Amino acid sequence: MISKKMTKAITLQINREQFSAYLYLAMANDAMDKGFKGAAKWFTMQYEEEQEHAMKFAKYLQERGAKVEQAAIEGPKTEWKDLLEMFKDALAHEKLVTGWINDLNTLAIAEKDYATQNMLVWFINEQVEEEGSAQDVIWMLEMGGGSKGALFMIDRKLGEREDD
Ligand code: FEO
Repeated sequence: MISKKMTKAITLQINREQFSAYLYLAMANDAMDKGFKGAAKWFTMQYEEEQEHAMKFAKYLQERGAKVEQAAIEGPKTEWKDLLEMFKDALAHEKLVTGWINDLNTLAIAEKDYATQNMLVWFINEQVEEEGSAQDVIWMLEMGGGSKGALFMIDRKLGEREDD
């Protein structure tokens, strides 16, 4: 049986994953509003991934016999200056998430909760990918220097994102 403390920590992480989903949906909406259809698709896929992360944690708690309880989701920022600011915020957010996942793992180690440690391996690896993909887009945008031609090409490339 999973501890109450671990259950509470994972429940908080579920809320944070749902906030992440909400944040990326806000970015998708703002990108669409600014005419960046490719970036809107990229962020919409990210929104869906975050919902999957929340569900992964919820299913895990249920498998361990704990009840999943929902809490209110904080409202995200809804407006960004440009795509670069959006992706910089995305990267900063993913770094925060990495810290939270690491904290969960620290707790699981302290509790000798091997099942939770094992479950978290997937998330630890996922965070490397999440930070890496946001960083890649930042580099592309910085290289493009904000020119209209570069933005057009980058937006098209972002629209080619497929399920990973
Ligand atoms: Fe669920 Fe983007 O971390």
